[in-house]
Formats: sequence, C-alpha cells, structure tokens
Amino acid sequence: MIQISTNLKHIKGFINDEQLHCFSNKIENTFNTIYNKSGAGNDFLGWTTLPSEMTKEFIQDIKEQAEALRKKSEIFVVVGIGGSYLGARAVIEALSHQFGALINKVGNTQVVYAGHNMSEEYMVELLELLDNKEYSMAVISKSGTTTEPAVAFRILKNHLENKYGKEEARTRIVAITDKERGALKTLANEEGYKTYIVPDNVGGRYSVLTPVGLLPIAVAGINIEQLMKGALAMETYCKENQNSNNVVAQYAVARQALYHDGKTNEILVSYEPRLQYIAEWWKQLYGESEGKDGKGIFPASDIFTTDLHSMGQYIQDGLRNLFETIISVERPTKEMRIPLADNDLDQLNYIAGRRLSEVNRTAETATILAHVDGGVPNIVIQIPEISASTIGELIYFFEMGCALSGYMLEVNPFDQPGVEAYKKNMFALLGKQGFEDRAAALKERIK
Ligand code: PA5
Repeated sequence: MIQISTNLKHIKGFINDEQLHCFSNKIENTFNTIYNKSGAGNDFLGWTTLPSEMTKEFIQDIKEQAEALRKKSEIFVVVGIGGSYLGARAVIEALSHQFGALINKVGNTQVVYAGHNMSEEYMVELLELLDNKEYSMAVISKSGTTTEPAVAFRILKNHLENKYGKEEARTRIVAITDKERGALKTLANEEGYKTYIVPDNVGGRYSVLTPVGLLPIAVAGINIEQLMKGALAMETYCKENQNSNNVVAQYAVARQALYHDGKTNEILVSYEPRLQYIAEWWKQLYGESEGKDGKGIFPASDIFTTDLHSMGQYIQDGLRNLFETIISVERPTKEMRIPLADNDLDQLNYIAGRRLSEVNRTAETATILAHVDGGVPNIVIQIPEISASTIGELIYFFEMGCALSGYMLEVNPFDQPGVEAYKKNMFALLGKQGFEDRAAALKERIK
C-alpha cells in the first residue's frame, strides 16, 4: 500500500487528453526499458532495487556505526557535494526538529555540511565551531576524486588529528566511496578508516538509499528502517503497476506533456519549510538527469507562503512558460491553534480557534486556483504527513519519475557529461598537470 497520490485536475485546462496520451501510450514501454535494462545508462539502474535488496544485517551495521559516532559527537560533519550530500540533507531536514541546533537537547547530534562549496569564510567559520565541539565526520565521494570534498576533507582531517591525535581521529572518520577506484579509497585503506561502498550501479544523485544517505541520516537519529519501508512500498507498487495509472507515471506523463506544450520550467512547491532540501535534492536529480542535448525542464523550487511574497508576482503574472508541482501535506504532526484576542485589534478573531494548518491548507488551495487562473498549470502530489516512511516513498517516487520522464524525453537520465566543463577549466587555471594547453587558451580569453 502506498500513501502518495497524484492529482492532475489542475492541468486539465491546459493539456488535452490527446496530449497526455502521446506520453501515457509510452509508459509501458518505458517501464520495460527500465526493468529490462535496455535503455541508455542501463549500468546505473541499481537504485531500482535498493529497498528490496537492503538486508537487516546491513541496516543493523549502519545503525551501530551511527550510534558509536553519535555517542562521541555533538556535531557530525558530512563532507560531500551533489548527490553525495543532498539526499542526506533532504531527509535530515525534513525529519528533524527545525530548531534542533538551538534547542541543544543532550545526546542530540547535529549534522553540518562541508565540501559542498569552496568558500574560505565558510570553512574558517566551520572550524571555529568545531574547535569547541566534540565531532566526527563522514567523507563521501563516489568517484573519490571530486575537488570540493577532497579539499574540505584535507582541512578537516588536519583539524581532527590536531584536536584528538591520529589514533582517535581515525575512529571518528568514515569514508563512503567506490569499492576500488579513486584517491579517497586509497586514503581510506592507508589510514584504516571504516569504509562503506557506493554500489557501482548507483549514480550519485540516486544514492540516498545507500550508505551515502543512510549513515548521516541514522547519525541524525532518524529511523532508517521506516525510511526504507516507505521506499520499498513504492518499489513494489511500481513493479506491480507498470501502466499509465501508476501515480509516478502520471507525474512523468504530465511533465512531458506540459514541457512539449511550452511549459519548460517546473517549480516544486511546498508549504512546509522543512521540505526545502527535498526540493534541493529534487532539483539536482531532475536537472542533472534531464538537462542535456539542448533539452530538459528547468527545475526550480519555492516554499510557500514565504515565496509568494517574493516570487508570487512572477508566477501569477510573468512569462507563461511555468508549471508548478505541489507537494501537498494533508496533516501536520503537531498542533497549534490561533488564540482569541479580547480587543481583536489585529482583526484576526474570525479565524480564532482554528488550526494554523487549516489556514496554511486554505492558502494552498487559494494559491493553486489563483495560479491556474494566471496560466500556470499545477500538478499536486499528495502525502498524508511528513514521516520517515512517506519521505522514503517520495524519494523512490521522484527517482522513478525522473527515469520515466528522462527516457520519454529521449535523454540518458543517468549521466552528467556537462558537469565536467567547469572542472577542466578550473584545473587548467589552477595549474594542474596535463591541462597546460587548455590553460593557455583560457588565459588568452580572460586577459
Ligand atoms: O549525480 C552525480 O553523479 C553528481 O552530482 C555527484 O553526486 C557529484 O558530482 C559528486 O560526485 P562524487 O560523489 O563522485 O564526489
């Protein structure tokens, strides 16, 4: 039984049945392409069976490792970039107390991030924090050669060794990387770090349900069994429903129909700020998977009602190349009612006694209708509540949606050749060996 549903009611005025059929007709074949591993990038379909192949022993090992790290860490640093940190951050922020860092509950390990930028100021300030805290870290890089996390890890490893000594530092570092390739694997072997493997057949942005995501998520105190249970429900559902009524297929079909009708930008919207990083993870997943060969829907995101006061005008009234996908949460897990005020000076007594969530839900309905009236189709993805199992389902939902959508767009949803361009230029300009010709050409251009 899955908990997610897809509602396409608010795209109907924009897209007719024929346009939808163009893509829904392709769904069975597209599922076949995925499950028979016959499409482009078929070496990277390991994510499709991660939930069903996850063993109890493996989960137990991750939990024990996480507990050992939690016991001695006020802070846990996740060093990684792109798919090597966004999934963990998405789940951790969705499921943790939103003021956890400030509430400072005893035994509550806070997860912070490094290696996802190269800001000197960020790193100096992170070390200022770590100077006075007990901490440990995971360094995560599938390739083991990515510059940002490698630089951050070199700095943090020095800091950790100076703080605790080499022996103790070793027990506070976990490496998550390829089984044999890359500088990180060599380093981890040499130093004797606890190491987890990123499976060969799982690409970075599809790796949240491997140790890449699961270890940091467990360190944050989140129930990874429930997360995997939700993902497994969606895996099973997809296997058993390889047709156009499938809720994931409906999302993928709607996206493609809208894109081919000129709606080239998709905004993922939530009315719950804790889902902000789910949207960041989703942007990487869809942007890197579909944005190639001169094609692809541009993924953007907003948190409402916050961004209705910044982006609302554009969405209502700007260039009509947009559609929105709303992650609609039926009920909150916490309760707050609006108090009655004797004098009613703020004139809010008409909603006194009502749940804040009722007002938030009303804002959602009102905004969907206003945006549809303004020419922006809305897809609604409904989840009953935010919990480890619904987030697990949602992760698998979006991964499968991305693979289906990418194949219908006729791109390889599992490679990312475009990411290399900036790296080659950066290496050349930094003077890395082997990039001399490129360096000379670039220097001419920036004279
Ligand atoms: O999806 C991907 O493969 C990329 O976004 C990677 O996750 C990102 O570039 C980090 O790579 P790595 O894990 O090899 O350091």
